[in-house]
Amino acid sequence: MGKRIAVFASGNGSNAENLITYFDKSESGRVVLVLTNKADAGVIDRVEKMGILCKVFANDQWKTGEAILKALHEEDIDFIVLAGFLLRIPLNLLHAYPHHIVNIHPALLPKFGGKGMYGDRVHQAVIDAGETHTGITIHYIDEHYDEGSIIFQAECPVYPTDTSSDVAERVHQLEYRYYPDVVEQLLYKV
Ligand code: GRF
Repeated sequence: MGKRIAVFASGNGSNAENLITYFDKSESGRVVLVLTNKADAGVIDRVEKMGILCKVFANDQWKTGEAILKALHEEDIDFIVLAGFLLRIPLNLLHAYPHHIVNIHPALLPKFGGKGMYGDRVHQAVIDAGETHTGITIHYIDEHYDEGSIIFQAECPVYPTDTSSDVAERVHQLEYRYYPDVVEQLLYKV
């Protein structure tokens, strides 16, 4: 069955769904747990329909991380994949899973990263800066937002007539195409 993966997501969860579907057919790993900080996040319904265990932890539980770590240990989690997760990862998790936590950022870091840079804000900033390209960055998580070492990037064009949702759509296609693949390669090394 391979490595046991937990996905953390705060929002809609389309990447979480894509990861679950991909690893359903892979020997390298399986998504067995989804954690969120939002009781009304779209990801909950989405993954529960797929038969995946999903748990909600309040923001203060994400500050200490104790209950989170317990939930991860209960499910024997080997690897953590963030997919649209908006809170800081508590220190105890970083220590328990060194180089075993990855994130995807919807732009080409180090540009358009950092605190408050998420969702449409990122894509709007890319448009406002007159960029002709954007993309995705898959990176390890360390103690600073969007600053862990970069594992993989892929690019797509930005056209002069694009709205932020046009850019978001193009970036999402890159995420679906590459995130599971890149995670799979990492699983073979852990
Ligand atoms: C993705 O664009 C991801 O890069 C970013 O948040 C978005 C999540 O989308 N970190 P979804 O919830 O997976 O649809």
